[in-house]
Amino acid sequence: MNGVYKAFWLDENDHLVVLDQRVLPFIESSVTITNTKECVEAIKNMTVRGAGVIGNVAAFGVYLGARECTSDLAQLIQKAQLIRASRPTAVNLMWAVDRMIEVAKKSSKEMMLEALKEEAIKISDEDCLRSRRIGELGADIFEEIMRQKGQKSINVLTHCNAGWLAIVDEGSALAPIYEAHKRGIDIHVWVDETRPRNQGANLTAWELAKAGIKHTVIADNTGGHLMQHQQVDVCITGADRVSRGGDAANKIGTYLKALAAFDNQIPFYIALPLSTFDFTIVDGVKDIEIEIRDEDEVKFIRGLDKQGEYTKVQIVQDVSKALNYGFDVTPARLITGLITDRGVCQANIEAIEAMCEDLL
Ligand code: MRU
Repeated sequence: MNGVYKAFWLDENDHLVVLDQRVLPFIESSVTITNTKECVEAIKNMTVRGAGVIGNVAAFGVYLGARECTSDLAQLIQKAQLIRASRPTAVNLMWAVDRMIEVAKKSSKEMMLEALKEEAIKISDEDCLRSRRIGELGADIFEEIMRQKGQKSINVLTHCNAGWLAIVDEGSALAPIYEAHKRGIDIHVWVDETRPRNQGANLTAWELAKAGIKHTVIADNTGGHLMQHQQVDVCITGADRVSRGGDAANKIGTYLKALAAFDNQIPFYIALPLSTFDFTIVDGVKDIEIEIRDEDEVKFIRGLDKQGEYTKVQIVQDVSKALNYGFDVTPARLITGLITDRGVCQANIEAIEAMCEDLL
């Protein structure tokens, strides 16, 4: 593998090792995935998460599945379908599995393992390049915003985690932030905590701290207030699926930030690799499937107790029900632009079709 893959890697037995994202930032540990069942489990229980990385892990999962069934194509397709169905919203997962199945179908039984391993590595290598290109284009936008406002620094708001834990090897929404930091731009990031699983507080803040980038974690409800008081220059998030019409599914709560940004005339960008487009859907609000997760993710919270023990505590009484939608869809009209590895494009069907003509 060419890039600096930090969220997952292959060990000496060609098993996939993934950073356990459930326990960050307090515990840095890894989980080894050796077969399809473990791959499905790791994606479902969010040991690994983030649209890009679950696509990468799924691709390696198909390779491991082929090892399990000694390259029997019919069995492999069944296994791949289990991986494909492990989470419903992020389209990179389905995209990566479909790409792997195509390779398997074209391979001889003898050559299948080698071909699948090569393809899984290729998908990750491509994601690295995409991530870096998104970083450059996004950092150019930050510089332009600073120039227009006559500022020497910039305040960026992001939601959830769209860094290297979510897409190799610098993320989607965080790639421009990393690039801006490398360019010496004085950047500060408002990090939404991202209830219920706290990907912002736990993962984005951890990534930014490691990189030495200034950041402040805020409760999810704070962004609107900051925007009203000129403390946010630009919002940027990743996406799990973007429709042909430019509607973007991302972590629950993204839509509310986009509404607040719109009301305050603050640019709101979505950063995504081309593999996050779903050209089969035009109206994302109506047709993108939204994952509903266990209510316990809302009713319990995890963290360190006073003794420094990693623990789980209940914050909602037993008798109350909880509802846990994983994602929402921000309509295209609220999005200033889509920062892709192919360029920055308007969030509308004409611009997307023109940019992606060869992929339709
Ligand atoms: O439920 P998660 O943590 O997998 O959700 C992740 C997000 O919503 C990210 O913002 C998204 O995957 C874009 S980053 C590639």
